[in-house]
Order: sequence, then structure tokens, then C-alpha cells
Amino acid sequence: MQIPDWPISGERELQLLREVLDSGRWGGHGDMVKRFEREFAAFTQCAHGISAMNGTVTLEMALCAAGVGAGDEVIVPAISFVSTAMAVSRVGATPVFVDIEPLSFNIDPDRAAAAITSRTKAIMPVHFGAAIADMERLIPLAAERGLALIEDAAHAHGSEWNGRRAGSLGLAGSFSFQNSKVMTAGEGGILTTNDASFAERAWSMMDQGRKPGGGWFHHYLLGSNFRITALQAAVLLAQLERLPRQSCLRARNAALLRTELAGVPGLAFQSVPKQQNANSWYLLLGRIDARAMGRTRDQFHRALTAQGVPCTPFYPHPLYGNPLYRGGGCRAEPCPVAEACIHDAFWLPHRALLADEETTHEIAGAILKACIDS
Ligand SMILES: Cc1ncc(COP(=O)(O)O)c(C=O)c1O
Repeated sequence: MQIPDWPISGERELQLLREVLDSGRWGGHGDMVKRFEREFAAFTQCAHGISAMNGTVTLEMALCAAGVGAGDEVIVPAISFVSTAMAVSRVGATPVFVDIEPLSFNIDPDRAAAAITSRTKAIMPVHFGAAIADMERLIPLAAERGLALIEDAAHAHGSEWNGRRAGSLGLAGSFSFQNSKVMTAGEGGILTTNDASFAERAWSMMDQGRKPGGGWFHHYLLGSNFRITALQAAVLLAQLERLPRQSCLRARNAALLRTELAGVPGLAFQSVPKQQNANSWYLLLGRIDARAMGRTRDQFHRALTAQGVPCTPFYPHPLYGNPLYRGGGCRAEPCPVAEACIHDAFWLPHRALLADEETTHEIAGAILKACIDS
């Protein structure tokens, strides 16, 4: 099956890399970094972009800049990559794990509201797989309770909610450019925000506690060196230019697969909220109802990968099931949906949505075969 490899690069990356190599400014203060930050912030409908080494430290920077620290609690979904929780722990706060909704795979706003205590300082929804969390309820919830709303948008470059881009919906958005993401420099991350003073604090965290425009040897807060290099920024600029076309292709293929496979007993794809008018389709997620299908998720997964379609059988545990959190250091609310997803959910990586139309029909056929062949 002709499923493209990922990452994809071309002449544009080479051209921009050449520009950096010839500039003699390869480091994090190079012009290319500023250019990329400006372009990505504009793409995200934000006034500020603060790039950093990866999408884990951007979460830490966001939490610090929002004033979250020791003794505070941050509400996070029980289903995410570990960084969402780890960043909270790294700033000395306690991650509070709450359940997700059954089909959006995103934090359940009712469960988030119920988990708020006097120690809660922030809510950090993840736009899982690029589907936007229920911001219609999370934005007013955070505002009413005086909490910082930080979007973990590591999956959602270019996804939109009522015309507003992921990363512009809360106090700040955090993106990852790790190798598997829809735009990548191997590693990398960026914070986006429309809050100028937040941006200044986050920038200072990233640049060894300096002040924008301040002296090289003047350090005002306990930051670190989280800078990306100009070489990464060059690759990311080229990736950003290619992203809209790739997202359109993924959207077309996701629609094709979901239409062709609608009505297959026991197969349910991730729900996309009606307010979401653009989706970068980082993952094609679904759940298997073993009773209705007559086969388990693991049988489905084996049958699909045997046909050459890349598929991951979800996470092996909710975040609180990681050895890191089994002994404490967190609060876990009851999460029956997250627990169920561990056994019945799956995802296809976005490169499976970058295939041509004929291959996409073949992928649909392979998924159908994995659902119904015994
Ligand atoms: C939801 C989520 N948040 C944060 C991250 C962290 O990003 P990075 O790998 O760039 O540190 C990831 C990475 O996969 C992620 O999936």
C-alpha cells in the first residue's frame, strides 16, 4: 500500500536552511527564529509566539508564566501524552486527572468543573488528535472560577473552533514540533498568546531570565535556555507553508474513510464538534465495540496492521497509571471512559491520511476487512 512516509521535506527546507547557514546566525537569536515565531503566531491568530526546544518545556513555560507553582492544582485530562501532566509536576504543582468524553476523547467539562478546589489554578485541555476540546464550556468555566486556561495544542496546528484557531482560545496555546507532528523539525515547540505580559514572562523563562530588549548579562527570573536553533526555525517555516495543503488532503481523506465506513457495526470514529470548522487531523481515532463487532480492539489492530496499515492500539494506561504517578504526586478522579478507551480505542497516524485517493479506498477496504473478517 502506497502510504507516504513522514516527515516530508523538499527544496523549500533546503533553501531556508541555506539562508541560515549563510547568515552565520545559527542559534536561537537568529533572524529566522523571529521570522518563524511571527509567522506561526499570525497563523494561530495570536500576537505573540515564543518558540522553545519542545512542546513539553512550552507547557512548563506556560504554567510558570501563569503563576502556577508549588501547592497548586492543575486539571488535565486522564488521556494524553505524559507531557501534559509531567509539565504540571515539573513546576511543583499537582496534576488532577479527570475523565474524557466517550467519543471526542477530550476532557469532560462537567468532570473538570467537579474537580475544582480552592487550590486549582489552571485547566489544561488537550485538543486530542486535533479535535478541539469543548471550549464553549471550558472558556466560561475558567473565567467564572478565575483559572488560567492553557491549551495543550500539541496535536492541533491549524484546527479551528468557530473560526478561531487552536492556541488563541485560552490564555495561551502550546504546540509541539516533535517528529510525528503535522509540522516538524524533529523536535521543537511554541507558545502562542494574545497576552503581552504573559508573553514577556514566557519569553524570559525560555531565554535565561532575560528581559526582551534588556542586556545580555541581566537576568531577572529563574529561566533556562530553552531556545530552538535558527536551523530548526528554517525547517519549521517550510513545514508551515506546506501545512494548509496537507491538512486539506487529510480532511478529504478522513471524510472519505469516515463516509465509506459509516454504519460498520461496532466501529465508531472520533466525534468532531459542530463548532470545529477546520481540523488538521493529527490522528484518525476510533473505538471498537467488541460485542457489536464480534472482535476485540486487539484483534482488529492485528488484522489491520497485517495488511500494512499503520495503527496504534491507544495508550496502555490513563496518565495516572504510569509508574511515575502510581505512588502519588497526583489526584485522579474516577475515569471510567478513559479506562474503557485503553481497551477499545485505536488511532491511525496522519501519514495514513496523506495517501492518494486510490490508496485511501484501499485503506478503507483494509479497515472494513479488519472489522468483519473472522
Ligand atoms: C498532547 C501532547 N502534549 C505535549 C506533547 C509534548 O511535545 P514534545 O514531544 O514536543 O515535548 C506531546 C507530544 O507528543 C503531546 O502529544
